[in-house]
Amino acid sequence: MISKETIERVQAAADIVEVVSDYAQLKKKGKDFWACCPFHNEKSPSFSVSQAKGIYKCFGCGAAGDALTFVMNVDRISYPDAIRQLAKKYSIEIIEDVSATNKEERTQIESLYIILNYAKNFFVKHLFETEHGRAVGLSYFKERGFSDATIHKFDLGYAPDAWSELHKEALAEQYSEEILEKAGLITKKDDNKVFDRFRNRVTFPIHTVSGRVIAFGARILTNDKNQPKYLNSPETEVYHKSKILYGIYQAKKEIVNKDNCFLVEGYTDVLSLHQAGIENVVASSGTSLTQDQVRLIGRFTKNVTILYDGDTAGIKASLRGIDIILEEGLNVRICSFPDNDDPDSYVKKVGYEAFLKHIKEHTNDFINFKTELFLAEAGNDPIKKAGVIKEIVESICKIPDTITRTVYIKQCSDKLGISEDILVAEVNRKLLGDRKKKTENTVNELLIAENELLEQELNRPHDLPEVNLEDKFMVREKGLIYLLLHNHQLKTTDQELSLIQFFYNETLDLEFSDHYFGQILTQLKEVLGNGEDYSQFFENFDNEELKRIMIDLSMPSHKPSPNWGKHGILVPDEHEDPFALMHSLILQYKIILTEEMIQDKKILLAATDDYDLQNRYLRIIMQLIDLKKEIAKDLGSVVWRL
Ligand code: CTP
Ligand code: MN
Repeated sequence: MISKETIERVQAAADIVEVVSDYAQLKKKGKDFWACCPFHNEKSPSFSVSQAKGIYKCFGCGAAGDALTFVMNVDRISYPDAIRQLAKKYSIEIIEDVSATNKEERTQIESLYIILNYAKNFFVKHLFETEHGRAVGLSYFKERGFSDATIHKFDLGYAPDAWSELHKEALAEQYSEEILEKAGLITKKDDNKVFDRFRNRVTFPIHTVSGRVIAFGARILTNDKNQPKYLNSPETEVYHKSKILYGIYQAKKEIVNKDNCFLVEGYTDVLSLHQAGIENVVASSGTSLTQDQVRLIGRFTKNVTILYDGDTAGIKASLRGIDIILEEGLNVRICSFPDNDDPDSYVKKVGYEAFLKHIKEHTNDFINFKTELFLAEAGNDPIKKAGVIKEIVESICKIPDTITRTVYIKQCSDKLGISEDILVAEVNRKLLGDRKKKTENTVNELLIAENELLEQELNRPHDLPEVNLEDKFMVREKGLIYLLLHNHQLKTTDQELSLIQFFYNETLDLEFSDHYFGQILTQLKEVLGNGEDYSQFFENFDNEELKRIMIDLSMPSHKPSPNWGKHGILVPDEHEDPFALMHSLILQYKIILTEEMIQDKKILLAATDDYDLQNRYLRIIMQLIDLKKEIAKDLGSVVWRL
């Protein structure tokens, strides 16, 4: 446990502005500082920091607290770890209360961090302090021109050429095999033999934003084509490849300073640029960028420059991925390098000055770059050129900001040689289409969510999928008529209402869908509405078909329970009370009617391009969903009398 004195020293030293600055770009406005909130995605700043009070507060998502809670929340770490991290930042020595430190008592996540840090130290030790490590690992790094300073800055190491050296040593130090495996450091074979995952490779630890080691990349030292050049940690509870960028910990400060982030492909590109003095650089580690990774960059800057090695094929393959950066509202530029060079080799060849000069001269705005690339390929072929326009429109539509979009439309209309109006129309058409798709998805999600809620309220399935809509109405209409036919004289316990009057009161606004049942209902309502005697009603049909239906329904085989369940009809139990049953049937009838109306509106919604009309349908759908929920509640509370 960390001593009380240490905690107090850390709290006194931690300056909220300094701490937050490691994660977000603060700008002073009045006496407070403002930034885009690191806890939620936003385009304009609603995150404020008061240096005097030592607190932060986000007016968008409500996040608030002091320097310690900030670090805990932003890096998702425990209180003691937040203290440790800030102590490191302010060079405060941590005094531990040793008696309470117990490896087993820490949570699993923390154990993973600890074992990964242990492994990192193990690899570093083997790189510098073993003969083999120096001869093989260190000399490899030296050959590639990496200085000791760079090697230390990135905690590079060497995994020894042995089957289970790390495993053996860690167990001797009382670390558990289970945690080693969960951290992805060892693998177990079928015969329960255990191997270190990384063997005879140089290691590149992957750090979180706050500098914790969560995984490793490990490079082979030979040209053995039968083995992968890089071996990487598997996904673990602490390592999610799609959420992290290599080098972000070492780069974050300089990204904020330069207000720009260089994006490269590989570990060695990051190392070489750092060594040359260019520190605002991260690597995607050879895969295409994810939304989470873009947002990670977006915490520090809104500007990304992609440094690409040579070939056009590689660039074309990743263009779609770059649209993700636009989508998050970041500005993207792109810089290419001569064939056969990547940023790593190029900076080594030409050095800092010439490298920056090259970037300055060869960096192009992404959309311009894409336009030129595609145009060069299309040549004079008009069909191909139409394809280019479509491609560019696709990218422009990804940009959330209207003004930026307009600027691009102007630029591209020149380049593409088509009028601005046509381009605007194209963009608008695509935007409208996208929006419609989005609306449809929202409605569908809403309906699914509502249906789930409904199921819960009913606490039992109320409609079975194999029954189609028409049948759903039919069985209930038939059921209602059956109930009336057999119980119309039945009265409530207080003798006030007969079943048929109850039915009449509840269904004034209802019409049946089935032709014959509909006729029966209409005639019945007429009789009841005129206050006529209905006692003979069910026997007096002169229409042959109606008569046949009535006779059919009076047969005992139509007794509603328990077979009704098969048709998705809720029935109380075998002692069904006709009043409760009828009430239930009417409510069920109203629910499926509402469902059908929702379905109709959804079709209309999907069919229109008119935005106002879409909104109107959407509102009606919402109201219908509310109505459906109300009825479902009633249905859930029908009291079954015995
Ligand atoms: N990569 C990987 N697995 C591989 C090959 C590549 O994970 N088998 C990832 C690594 O993160 C690597 C990046 O893709 O850094 C780029 O690959 P590449 O350009 O081949 O590697 P370099 O970083 O240039 O490595 P080196 O210069 O050592 O060849
Ligand atoms: Mn390389």
